[in-house]
Amino acid sequence: MRFESKNNLDSVEVDVIAVGVPEGSTECDPRFMNIAESLYKAGDLPLKPSETCIVPGTPKTVFVGISKSGDAETWRRAASTVVRRARKARKIAFAAGDARAIAEGAVIGAFSVEQYKTNGSKTAVEEVIVVGSETAPLEQGRLLAESINWARQLINEPSNNKPPRVIADRAAEMAKSVGLEIDVLDETRIRELKMGALLGVSQGSDEPPRLLVLKHNGKRESKSLLTFVGKGVTFDTGGISLKPADGMEKMKYDMAGGATAMAALRTLALFRAPLNCMVVVPLVENMPGGRAQRPGDVVRAMSGKTIEIINTDAEGRLILADALAYAIQLGATHLVDLATLTGAVRVALGSIRVGVLGNQQPFIDRLLKAAERTGERMWQLPMDDDYREMIKSSVADVANSGGRFAGTITAAKFLEEFVGNLPWVHLDIAGTAWNDEEKPYLPKGPSGVAVRTLVELALGFSQE
Ligand code: BES
Ligand code: MN
Ligand code: ZN
Repeated sequence: MRFESKNNLDSVEVDVIAVGVPEGSTECDPRFMNIAESLYKAGDLPLKPSETCIVPGTPKTVFVGISKSGDAETWRRAASTVVRRARKARKIAFAAGDARAIAEGAVIGAFSVEQYKTNGSKTAVEEVIVVGSETAPLEQGRLLAESINWARQLINEPSNNKPPRVIADRAAEMAKSVGLEIDVLDETRIRELKMGALLGVSQGSDEPPRLLVLKHNGKRESKSLLTFVGKGVTFDTGGISLKPADGMEKMKYDMAGGATAMAALRTLALFRAPLNCMVVVPLVENMPGGRAQRPGDVVRAMSGKTIEIINTDAEGRLILADALAYAIQLGATHLVDLATLTGAVRVALGSIRVGVLGNQQPFIDRLLKAAERTGERMWQLPMDDDYREMIKSSVADVANSGGRFAGTITAAKFLEEFVGNLPWVHLDIAGTAWNDEEKPYLPKGPSGVAVRTLVELALGFSQE
């Protein structure tokens, strides 16, 4: 998709002109009141945010509802909605609006989950014009949203097409195309590093594990190395503690954290952001094969700590334990991990907010503020020491499950054991990474949540 800025509407030749209509108001952009007047009279306007009203003609006029606040998120959704509604149009112009948000929304709206349908829908939109905008925000919005779609594409891929070695190849291809450094560790090297927790999970699958390290070196000398660690379970059957069949097909999205982390780094590379940033992604398939680990097994993590496996379905924290330890060995100074880690976060926050936990409030606040600026909704959960009691083991240093209650918190308490004294934030995206209900601005499927927050957080680091 190409983007262009134009000074006024006169020179614009397009199939569709999109016009924002403020919620609860009796008028809109005066340049379109001649068309809109009768619609207001008939009660067809105004519209609720992301509702549309289409007026035939050449070009078609698509009125789209904008919230009272008129913030970036409402323009993002409006643009996405228009692109999804006007799939047959090749050229669309927006008469006005937040340029960067429109570019983001248009690219996000063009994403399709139907690539494996013989006659799947695919957008025809090639060019988007935003009247009265500048070029730079359009370009930034496009690069960010294309990265988000890169992650969504990988998350949506069926698991027969994305075992760890294939994701590693896709990551290497991406790294090469945007100029990131990449190191792909195979099983031999993972074994040399004594990553017993990761290997315990992967041993139940015929697909060997991988561990990815990607680096964006945007600054010559820097004291800080912001590091994103993303869960990469390419399919989660639960292992011997097998999941129920109902809904198990969705466990292809259990690598969303890893894809999200890589997408954020891709964006930073394309932005040429002046900071050093690293991504670590442990990749495994959690299967109940003949060599699979059992409940009651004890494994030794790379850090030296021993872990009693209570439930083989609590595998995400096991691979993250070793990935976090490796990130520290590689010189990370600030850690953010993100993972589809617990069903419990859905119980607590539904599909609306990302769960946020961490060990140092100032760093948690930095992340929460970055999230707020991007419009991605998040919510902090407590980390009292008392929760640590729930993952005590009678035979090992720590147990990998604390049972049903406070499941999101006990999972984070487990991770905390492996972050040393570094500032660390954990994002549980199990409730938000997959959109279960279609919205006008978002299809059912991968949401790409948290890419924008990670990028925003990193850009803050580049100002130091
Ligand atoms: N990948 C799942 C968490 C999940 C659940 C993600 C639903 C997306 C939607 C994770 O590996 C898992 O199975 N967690 C267990 C932990 C429990 C065994 C302590 C869970 O949440 O039930
Ligand atoms: Mn699991
Ligand atoms: Zn999982």
